[in-house]
Amino acid sequence: MLAMNYRGPFRIRVDKNKPVPEIKHPNDAIVRVTRSCICGSDLHLYRGRVPDTRVGMTFGHEFTGEVVEIGSSVQNLKVGDRVLVPFNVGCGSCINCKQGLYGNCMESNPMSAACGGFFGYAHTGGGYDGGQAEFVRVPYADVGPMIIPPDIDIEDAVLLTDVVPTGYQAAEMGEIKMGDTVVVFGAGPVGIFAAKSSWLLGAGRVIVVDCLDYRLEFVKNYAQCEVYNYKEMGDPVLFLKKITDYLGADVCIDAVGAEATGNAMQTLTGQKLMLQAGSATALHWAINSVKKGGVVSVVGVYGPTDNLVPIGNMVNKGITIRGNQASVKRHLPHLIEHIRAGRLNPKAIITHRVPLEEIADAYHMFSSKLDNCIKTVLIPPSVSY
Ligand SMILES: NC(=O)c1ccc[n+]([C@@H]2O[C@H](COP(=O)([O-])OP(=O)(O)OC[C@H]3O[C@@H](n4cnc5c(N)ncnc54)[C@H](O)[C@@H]3O)[C@@H](O)[C@H]2O)c1
Ligand SMILES: [Zn+2]
Ligand SMILES: [Zn+2]
Repeated sequence: MLAMNYRGPFRIRVDKNKPVPEIKHPNDAIVRVTRSCICGSDLHLYRGRVPDTRVGMTFGHEFTGEVVEIGSSVQNLKVGDRVLVPFNVGCGSCINCKQGLYGNCMESNPMSAACGGFFGYAHTGGGYDGGQAEFVRVPYADVGPMIIPPDIDIEDAVLLTDVVPTGYQAAEMGEIKMGDTVVVFGAGPVGIFAAKSSWLLGAGRVIVVDCLDYRLEFVKNYAQCEVYNYKEMGDPVLFLKKITDYLGADVCIDAVGAEATGNAMQTLTGQKLMLQAGSATALHWAINSVKKGGVVSVVGVYGPTDNLVPIGNMVNKGITIRGNQASVKRHLPHLIEHIRAGRLNPKAIITHRVPLEEIADAYHMFSSKLDNCIKTVLIPPSVSY
């Protein structure tokens, strides 16, 4: 089959002869991919920043597909079902999965104490091949996949596998109260949906910060929020304090993560010298600009080791910091209701639809933010719809 093939940092190839995956466990399913996406999280892999990313791996944790084979114990799926597959690999029966914390599964990535299992996310994430391919093996097939309701568009469905629920969970972890001011750092797909979800959860004012004007322009119109380019803010923390009555926002959301730009010292120590697990610039700004007693919600991805964050300010200001990998499955029912009611239109963020064969160019474009790229969807050659 055709599959994305990682050859090392910034080197993506198309493997035309990767063996089609087979059932390995009675609760596996094999899914023929109909759509997959490139995510900001894939960029950390692409740039060689995730430990134990092995040559030959196929990335892709955001995909929809059609079930073509099921293991003998699978009960919730049948051949021919059209499914969306959450990016988390959750076992469904451990202590965390039972509470809906599928992103923190204790079973699907047993060798790692740092994270649960994810599709296409290095051996750090469990070593599962991902969906930037024609076929994928989906373990715990009775747990993660959801049959796509007939009235839900496939392009909305593929965005429900990660960025929509992640943005929603970012807002949810912010514990937004009616009328709160929310600042979202990052106007990528995750930040866009964090901004949109902040309104759904009762925010009274939503501010988005990035350095890419085309993304700020998009989110301004799409999520009706105030936008600022941090390059024009002077000191971002002081600027944000000034526009929030010098008290600070009630909630700050970090939708940027380890590859943040905007602070030379953070970039040097976090990305060039690798003295910390990524540059914590957005997190820094969030902790320092949120009000005393405010909440900082972190969905931007950071490595497992140390980061230079202003922990003293966190303690002295009494800030609550929450972070997590989104537990996608938990959010699907209410997000689908928001789509049906017209309050969410996920597919509007898709800027590029690219044949899977052209994946190397697609990575380059998304990584370098060329051609006003916001979200890229890959279409395998065998797909007719
Ligand atoms: N926790 C989860 O479950 C989860 C799921 C999906 C993605 N993520 C993470 O969320 C983050 C965003 O993902 P994405 O797909 O939107 O990525 P993206 O790369 O498309 O967007 C990131 C945006 O942040 C901006 N940015 C860089 N430095 C900034 C700064 N200092 N302040 C404000 N903005 C800044 C960039 O210009 C870019 O527009 C990534 O770290 C990704 O790994 C987490
Ligand atoms: Zn993703
Ligand atoms: Zn589990």
